[in-house]
Amino acid sequence: MLVLGIESSCDETAAAIVNDKKEILGEALLSQEEHKAFGGVVPEIAARSHLEHIDGILEQCFAKTGLELSDIDAVAAASGPGLIGGVIVGVMTAKALAVASNKPFVAVNHLEGHALAARISNDVEFPYLLLLVSGGHCQILVVKDVDQYERLGTTIDDAAGEAFDKVAKMLGLGYPGGPAVEKLAVAGNEQRFTLPRPLIGSNDCNLSFSGLKTAVRKIIETYAPDGNLAHADIPAHDVADICACFQYTATDCLCRKLKKAVTYFKQAYPQGKHLVVSGGVASNTYLRAKLKNLADENGLVFAAPPIRFCTDNGVMIAWAGLERFRKGLVSPLDFKPRPRWPLDTSAPKAAGAGGVKA
Ligand code: KG4
Ligand code: ZN
Repeated sequence: MLVLGIESSCDETAAAIVNDKKEILGEALLSQEEHKAFGGVVPEIAARSHLEHIDGILEQCFAKTGLELSDIDAVAAASGPGLIGGVIVGVMTAKALAVASNKPFVAVNHLEGHALAARISNDVEFPYLLLLVSGGHCQILVVKDVDQYERLGTTIDDAAGEAFDKVAKMLGLGYPGGPAVEKLAVAGNEQRFTLPRPLIGSNDCNLSFSGLKTAVRKIIETYAPDGNLAHADIPAHDVADICACFQYTATDCLCRKLKKAVTYFKQAYPQGKHLVVSGGVASNTYLRAKLKNLADENGLVFAAPPIRFCTDNGVMIAWAGLERFRKGLVSPLDFKPRPRWPLDTSAPKAAGAGGVKA
């Protein structure tokens, strides 16, 4: 069974071909550099770039595989949530390829791509507890099965990656900010500034990062005599301390809420074994280490996709497409791309969709 997957929901144009033995037969990815000058992704620039590069990415993905489109069993695309111009490019391309080859189209929720990514390289069985942390999302979920999610908590304002990006922007570290903050934090003193932990006392699994980001802004303002952050003159070791304190506090907020979720998960799903982290922020090695400790202390097995499958990529969409396809979860050709698409709501299924033998 071979599935082609296309990702174009943010600033990566990517495609991959995977099979049901978890082998990656073809893969291509282009990270758009055009946004760096703006300190964040510009939706129209992203959409135009996807349009310009999608054909070349597909050619690259097939090159050297010896495969033709006719060898593919289903064509999947990240069909939301995301920046709608880019999502439309991927969905229209996937539908066109599906129609041309008379194969099913599979609409994949981009978040399901992140959620199932750990199953490609790790032996993670359902149900598992998932921390999904990316630039646009921050959620704690139980992954009960493909297409079956129980959401335990979510951010009420900024996503974790968004907070990393905003802190990096205030410090003039460029976009994306997460990797830059992580790198500088290594040399910093994480106890120097005490930062707020919004919602930490609430008896639920929700998170909030907005107040934390504002507290960082206030610290940076003390280095800018005219109050303009762009004029802040911060010694390098202070930048490192700010990065370390922010990373420490954001990670602590995530771990504390996850601890609550672990208690619930172990009681409600006693057969569950894994604690999984995924999404772009899951590339952060400091966070991964803290989550591994949390899993160890609570008798769970920690799993995370390899770093290259944490940030957006085509493999996770092809894999989620394959997992859906083999359950018969294919999509109608009139499926409308969805700018918003909570993971705990299902995609419309194609009429007559039934199970497919693996
Ligand atoms: O999953 P992703 O590629 O795109 C979305 O679906 O949003 O995640 C991108 C986010 C960005 O906010 C980026 O700053 C963050 O992931 N990120 C990191 C690290 N690498 C990427 N955040 C913290 N530490 C990192 N090492
Ligand atoms: Zn993503």
